[in-house]
Amino acid sequence: MRRLIGVGVGPGDPELITVKAIRVLRTADVVLVPVLGRAGEEDRAETGRAEATVRAHVDGAVIRRVAFALNDTGGVTQARAAAWDAAADAVTGVFAAGAGTVAFATLGDPALYSTFSYLAQGVTARDPGVTVETVPGITALQDLAARSGTVLTEGTESLVLLPLTAGPGALAEALAAHDTVVAYKLSAAGPLDTVRKALAEAGRLDGAVFGARVGLAGEDIRPAAMVEAGERVPYLATLISPGQRGGRGSRLAGKAAAGATAAGPADGTAGPASGAVGPSREAADSAGQAGRAGDSRGGSV
Ligand SMILES: C[S@@+](CC[C@H](N)C(=O)[O-])C[C@H]1O[C@@H](n2cnc3c(N)ncnc32)[C@H](O)[C@@H]1O
Repeated sequence: MRRLIGVGVGPGDPELITVKAIRVLRTADVVLVPVLGRAGEEDRAETGRAEATVRAHVDGAVIRRVAFALNDTGGVTQARAAAWDAAADAVTGVFAAGAGTVAFATLGDPALYSTFSYLAQGVTARDPGVTVETVPGITALQDLAARSGTVLTEGTESLVLLPLTAGPGALAEALAAHDTVVAYKLSAAGPLDTVRKALAEAGRLDGAVFGARVGLAGEDIRPAAMVEAGERVPYLATLISPGQRGGRGSRLAGKAAAGATAAGPADGTAGPASGAVGPSREAADSAGQAGRAGDSRGGSV
């Protein structure tokens, strides 16, 4: 039996990986890790964040790098398609050499914007006998919520996740239609001023949280209102705009009730209604690396 398993290894902090992910990585015949670069030049590539987490838990002898054009933008570019094909060829080559189980480590969760889904499609197209499975991982949005003290949803609130590669109007539409809005791939919108403008126009700049390199060296978590308009936004940056709340339990019965209790919680307690973000901070407690992120999809293991 040939199994290809996409393993979510968390958002970068090597402690945010599940017990199951570690077991699957340690028992796989080969563990593939994505790196930013060209096929044939993997050894020269910078250590990726998924790779750094894997190396914290797994014997290096089973780790093999696979090149992806991870930062390519603009749809299915030639470089991107070529990288997908080369990666799929590499996986089928590993199976042909005798491997039974191949794990592919991906940042966050393999079902969310991950390269793994493209890899799996390429592998099964070449070898329909390969079984594809996934192990879920902790996402960047969860880690940002935890580190910033942000409650993602309460009561009847909706939660939407969108990538800013979806175009300039997508964030404004999401802010108008949903309670909590999370945006990935912030750098696709350029400096943060366009994002800040969309938040301000929706009356949601206050309370929005910006997080770059969350859990990695150089972590930067701030209220979005404190990010200067012209600041360069790195690839690993996420935004959370929490739902509008009026106090404890205000969203249990929908938006109307939120307005009715907007004066504050009945018992006078001050819970973390829309999240609380401290001042800018630099985290030095992580083994995360620079470089460009890996990305993800599944079954069960
Ligand atoms: C291709 S997606 C991968 C998402 C990942 N599979 C997940 O489940 O979180 C890459 C985007 O995830 C977000 N991201 C991933 N890791 C992050 C981190 N450590 N800090 C901030 N954002 C991160 C950024 O928005 C980045 O552009």
